[in-house]
Amino acid sequence: MDRHIEVFLKRLSYIALTIGTFTFIVLLLQTPDTCVAPDSPPKPHLRFPKHSCGYKPRQHLPLHKKNNRLWSTKAWQNQVHSFALFFQSFHQMGLLHNHSNVLCVSAGAGHEVMALSQLGVADVTAVELLDSPPLVSRADPHNLPFFDDVFDLGFSARLAEALFPSRFAAEMERTVRPGGVCAVVVDECGDDEVKEIVGLFRNSRFLGAMNVTLTGLRMTRIILRVKHLP
Ligand SMILES: *[C@@H]1O[C@H](CO)[C@@H](O)[C@H](O)[C@H]1NC(C)=O
Ligand SMILES: *[C@@H]1O[C@H](CO)[C@@H](O)[C@H](O)[C@H]1NC(C)=O
Repeated sequence: MDRHIEVFLKRLSYIALTIGTFTFIVLLLQTPDTCVAPDSPPKPHLRFPKHSCGYKPRQHLPLHKKNNRLWSTKAWQNQVHSFALFFQSFHQMGLLHNHSNVLCVSAGAGHEVMALSQLGVADVTAVELLDSPPLVSRADPHNLPFFDDVFDLGFSARLAEALFPSRFAAEMERTVRPGGVCAVVVDECGDDEVKEIVGLFRNSRFLGAMNVTLTGLRMTRIILRVKHLP
């Protein structure tokens, strides 16, 4: 009985070994469908990049071409025109001259810089967290990299979005000379909000507020004159 079982088990293991070997050889010889012969045209779903950097490099335009493209758009030109009209009123009020040294804080892509240049203001400095050369340099509006009292006019259309509005205002005041002007525009607002904004400029005298349309938006323009220290 024992002997019979032993023979049976031996046969069983020979059969298993044969089946295993045969299966192994079949698998080895059979090319899986997912492998593509080097010369076959790639199926659409099997188009792998040649290497990990095989995607097409992003088009990289030289700066002046990129700027020319941006500056020739209708949207850009309309906004610059709107800023030019806006700053013309500063000319008329005698708060801005061609020789004025102007600072634009949080100037975005630089619409106001181009507008001021078009008006004939030669000396315009503009900063923003992200630079847009050649119009706008990179600087933190809360920590302006300029000496005290160097500008005749400080302007910003982004005070309302500042992380620390009082710090933002203080830096504008610090860099504008005594007797110079700080001007901001905010979304159109009433007297209470104007008062609040004026309160941020601790070292300036309120000159006036006016509702204006700027780049198609209804805004309130607030103008202050920086005080002479006693
Ligand atoms: C300012 O510059 C503009 C453009 O160059 C010129 O047309 C204008 O007459 C200048 N204004 C003054 C007051 O010089
Ligand atoms: C601006 O418009 C608002 C209403 O949107 C009004 O409350 C406010 O008095 C106006 N400000 C000025 C200076 O005219």
